[in-house]
Amino acid sequence: MTNSWHNIWSRRNFEFTSDLSLDFLIKADGFDQGIGDVDSDSWVSICVAYAKAMDLQKDMSIFEFGCGAGAFLKPFYDIYRMRVAGIDLSPFLIDVARQVMPHGDFNMCSIEDYVLYEKYDVVVSNSVIHYLNREEFGTFIDKATAIAERFILISDIPNLQTKTEAEEYRKKIMLQNSIEKKYEGLCHTYFKPMELINRFKTKNWDCKLVPIGSLGSTQSRFRFSILATKI
Ligand SMILES: C[S@@+](CC[C@H](N)C(=O)[O-])C[C@H]1O[C@@H](n2cnc3c(N)ncnc32)[C@H](O)[C@@H]1O
Repeated sequence: MTNSWHNIWSRRNFEFTSDLSLDFLIKADGFDQGIGDVDSDSWVSICVAYAKAMDLQKDMSIFEFGCGAGAFLKPFYDIYRMRVAGIDLSPFLIDVARQVMPHGDFNMCSIEDYVLYEKYDVVVSNSVIHYLNREEFGTFIDKATAIAERFILISDIPNLQTKTEAEEYRKKIMLQNSIEKKYEGLCHTYFKPMELINRFKTKNWDCKLVPIGSLGSTQSRFRFSILATKI
């Protein structure tokens, strides 16, 4: 079977622990192995900064494409008491998300197969769109703009302008951790900030860069985040 991000993520498993802490969720969601490592205090600060940028309030709803075990949604659930929902490729990660946010609505599904039936105040996708090819990304934008009532936040996006440095760093860490074989032949999709901003503008959404996620892991220095607002 050829190596693909779909295979990697749908088979994602992690040594189960009875302690389903935010730290565990972050690691289970792939921010481990030294590439995207970030501590839970910084993680919460980043989520709070995003919530402030959108002025989020209790009982608003938030949906994530590629929610994994729910590490990104958890602070919105715990601190802002928001209604949370999400889809992901990994049955294991979805099962963890259901356990840690029992009032949430989590389903195993790909972005490509996701059928729209409900609207949400906020649609997010943290550290996900680089696993999509450009055609899949087009589908993602269409679906996100169709179900979001107020905001779309896409965070931790690999920046085409710093691709060389990002790839050198990624290779170095993969070698250190002896995981190059596992990811052989798999590339991230890189985006230009203006390409994404203009994409939203053509759909009549306001869109800007939000310099928040770069406070996270070392890898985040080569990434950017955008916040789109419905006009
Ligand atoms: C790095 S993890 C981030 C998880 C979560 N957003 C977070 O920030 O904690 C990337 C997630 O995207 C999901 N993913 C990748 N491609 C996807 C696709 N085509 N459809 C649905 N989920 C996808 C993976 O299963 C994985 O859980």
